[in-house]
Amino acid sequence: MINLATLNKLTYGLYIVTSLDQGRCNGFAADAVFQVSANPPTIGACIKKDNLTHDFVAKTKVFAVSILAETAPAELIRHWGLKSGHQEDKCVNTEYKTGITGCHLITKDSLGAIECQVINAFDAGSHTIFLGEVVSAEMFSEREPLTYTQYRKNIKPDIKQSESKRDIMKKYRCVVCDYIYDPSLGDPDSGIAPGTPFEQIPDTWVCPICQVDKSNFEPVD
Ligand SMILES: Cc1cc2nc3c(=O)[nH]c(=O)nc-3n(C[C@H](O)[C@H](O)[C@H](O)COP(=O)(O)O)c2cc1C
Repeated sequence: MINLATLNKLTYGLYIVTSLDQGRCNGFAADAVFQVSANPPTIGACIKKDNLTHDFVAKTKVFAVSILAETAPAELIRHWGLKSGHQEDKCVNTEYKTGITGCHLITKDSLGAIECQVINAFDAGSHTIFLGEVVSAEMFSEREPLTYTQYRKNIKPDIKQSESKRDIMKKYRCVVCDYIYDPSLGDPDSGIAPGTPFEQIPDTWVCPICQVDKSNFEPVD
């Protein structure tokens, strides 16, 4: 028997793993980071092969692990963990210092950072396990670290709630005339109050510009 729920009882911390490629920074939220050896001090990081950071680490052979404080907000984890550098530059508007490897060390909401030089890598199916020898380690604060259990209990529900709110308040585009229905504005001229999600508009409503019905609208990403 394999009851995968059992795996949820393993304990972890929560980190931002950063790397770089040709001067560009990228990073992601990670729990699968751990010390594997004391001498030389060595860190393991399990990185999904389709993460952009995976390609950066595989290429430049350096990564940094910033250790999140228990006060780290949901927005920070959403930023690093639910968005990909394949789509946007995640390193803009972050507070960091540059480490000796060139990697960004996240200084806000983190306790400290460890930089590593990759000494080995193991194929583990969906992920690669990178082993990195520690080349620098520094503390930024004496606060307590965030655990994965705290994340699951306190932060994940917040993230889920804000994601579903975001979905409810999605904008819709008329495929005929490109009019955008914005739920925060509604369509007061047709009796649709601001704050009305597209899904709750009556089926009798028509596009205020070209008069086609709701079936001609598609969500805007
Ligand atoms: C709480 C949390 C923990 C995560 N842990 C890992 C992890 O240990 N390894 C991993 O490869 N991805 C992990 N992820 C997923 C990556 O953060 C996510 O795929 C990210 O968008 C990849 O970013 P990138 O493509 O810019 O590298 C985690 C996500 C969250 C929210």
